[in-house]
Amino acid sequence: MIEVENLHKHFGAKVAVDGVSFTVNKGEVLGFLGPNGAGKSTTMRMVTGFLPATEGSVSIGGSDIEEDEIAAKSKIGYLPEAAPLYSDMTVEGFLRFAAEMRGVPASELSAAVDKAIETTFLEPVRHQSVDTLSKGYRHRTCFAQSIIHDPEVLILDEPTDGLDPNQKHEIRQLIRRMGETKAIIFSTHILEEVEAACTRAIIIDRGTVIADGTPDELKAKSSNAGSVRLIAKGLAGSGIEAELEKLPESRSVEVEESNDDGLVARILPAKGRSADLGTAISKLCKDKNLTVEELHVEQGRLDELFREITKTDLED
Ligand SMILES: Nc1ncnc2c1ncn2[C@@H]1O[C@H](COP(=O)(O)OP(=O)(O)O)[C@@H](O)[C@H]1O
Ligand SMILES: [Mg+2]
Repeated sequence: MIEVENLHKHFGAKVAVDGVSFTVNKGEVLGFLGPNGAGKSTTMRMVTGFLPATEGSVSIGGSDIEEDEIAAKSKIGYLPEAAPLYSDMTVEGFLRFAAEMRGVPASELSAAVDKAIETTFLEPVRHQSVDTLSKGYRHRTCFAQSIIHDPEVLILDEPTDGLDPNQKHEIRQLIRRMGETKAIIFSTHILEEVEAACTRAIIIDRGTVIADGTPDELKAKSSNAGSVRLIAKGLAGSGIEAELEKLPESRSVEVEESNDDGLVARILPAKGRSADLGTAISKLCKDKNLTVEELHVEQGRLDELFREITKTDLED
């Protein structure tokens, strides 16, 4: 549904997007992850056709965003970073207006508005004017606007920004659910959001894609994926710590507690050896006649990977 090929955007001398390519199919939710200033919003604005690309192409459901602009844009719902609202309209009035702008036929207007209101939980404020809404409701009104014409493609720029934890949760569930039948891209710098709502994620840093995979694949790439937490007993004089350090499968050993009685430690895998670390440790303990009380292989963590591979700092 979404095909992005070698997108570039230059603002004068500034290169905001530097050769981004990806595809999103129906039934996929692609998370755009990256520090502030990485180029997420600029990429999304080019994908939706609101900003011309310096180089590269975007195709939406087979329609080129520049050459076949109207066909391409009609398939897209877009929630921009700072969404405009017409503050003197009621929620219902604004959504009716949005539906008309989006070419929803007059006979289907009421049904489209009702459905968007229901999907985004706006019923309690339906007749309230937009300028009196709380931030969460305003945000959901913008969200409702983006889905009013039931688009096949949804581009959501930080859709949970500024919401409280319950509202964030609600929106993630909603994205996940809509993702079953649509192709969705949403940007965030909240890592848990990726795990909660995405089928796939790309990490963008300084205008380029530096990682691409399912949340599990990405986690497995963090350097501490496959580290082993070990609790072993009866090691008086075994020299186990030094032996663990020496294993070709281990990179380093972080000791939490160590005395004649036992050892509590986290052993980090050597590069490319995480799959064999657990087995090597368990064999070593057996050879040394130690009692293993716990040997737990940790999954990688997305926040570790993010810190390891992005150069810019997270703002929160
Ligand atoms: N209209 C513009 N003119 C000049 N620079 C811009 C413009 N829009 C964005 N940028 C710059 O491009 C980079 C990427 O911005 P953006 O896409 O908004 O990042 P993100 O959404 O990942 O935080 C930033 O350095 C930003 O300052
Ligand atoms: Mg942005």
